[in-house]
Amino acid sequence: MDKTNHKAWSVQGKYVIITGATSGIGLAAARELAARGAHLGIVARSQAKGNETAEQLRALTGGNTNVEVFLADLSDQRSIRRLASEILARCPRIDMLINNAGAMFVKRILTKDGMEKTWAVNHLAPFLLTTLLLDRIKMSGEARIITTSSHGHKMAKKGIAFDDLTAKKRYSFLQALMGGANFRYGETKLANILFTTELARLLEGTGVVANCLDPGLVATNFNQDNGMLARMTMAVMKRFSQTPEKGAETLVWLADSNEISGESGRYYVDMKEAIPAAPARSQEAARKLWEVSERQTRNSGIGE
Ligand SMILES: NC(=O)c1ccc[n+]([C@@H]2O[C@H](COP(=O)([O-])OP(=O)(O)OC[C@H]3O[C@@H](n4cnc5c(N)ncnc54)[C@H](OP(=O)(O)O)[C@@H]3O)[C@@H](O)[C@H]2O)c1
Repeated sequence: MDKTNHKAWSVQGKYVIITGATSGIGLAAARELAARGAHLGIVARSQAKGNETAEQLRALTGGNTNVEVFLADLSDQRSIRRLASEILARCPRIDMLINNAGAMFVKRILTKDGMEKTWAVNHLAPFLLTTLLLDRIKMSGEARIITTSSHGHKMAKKGIAFDDLTAKKRYSFLQALMGGANFRYGETKLANILFTTELARLLEGTGVVANCLDPGLVATNFNQDNGMLARMTMAVMKRFSQTPEKGAETLVWLADSNEISGESGRYYVDMKEAIPAAPARSQEAARKLWEVSERQTRNSGIGE
């Protein structure tokens, strides 16, 4: 994109859809974006939590923020399709989509669509939601798509296991630790980067940019539903973690900064561009992932 033709960018008055805004990094980012004058569409999986978050955001700005709540279970493709229809019906414009929701599951679970659940929530949900909203996003002329990845992508040393997309052969964390398999969560976070690469390529010349980030280690509700061992591990890790506000800084900066206008297909850490691990730099894997994701979401019901 030609940077010389840019108007100054800020989130003030922009229409922003954000997933995972009911907790942790997403909530901290939503609070900051509301304070900076963005109109927010928050995606929640629980009506009560969504309403509570919306109230919190409105109170923060003395009622000056326009906050809408959308409901969806991002592990369920039918729910994502309903969500996208609802957003398209209620939002005449979308200036920004923030794919932030994410989760990790110690046990391998298959979703209604026959997908492995970590993959479904962390990768297929951003893919499907983004592609369903893309025409409306493009209509804004200049828009941003931001996806929360992780340093954890480095634990998918073997790249995306295209021959085992539902992680049937290899799922356990122990296998990953012993180097015999990818760490599944890491593989989904690698997918976030490859998705961003291909999305940015497809969006060249449209005015819409796509970038992703690693928020760092952040004390949130992440990995709290995976039993006692996971909770104990997270409690120890919390001692070395940043606050959600600090963890949201790069996300907010990518959303609001004029400095990065026109930059696309990049990965950021601590408000600086960073180089992800080698498997995340493969254009070929990015294209292949896009094709596979199209297939995995085409009929919203057929697994690989
Ligand atoms: N925390 C870290 O150290 C860290 C490091 C690197 C990357 N990240 C990434 O940061 C992002 C945010 O995580 P966080 O640390 O803020 O964790 P968190 O506090 O657990 O927040 C996760 C958010 O995602 C939502 N979510 C999870 N599954 C969902 C589903 N099936 N449908 C709809 N929404 C769903 C949660 O909704 P509920 O409120 O209903 O649970 C919550 O709003 C994730 O993508 C994660 O991979 C985190």
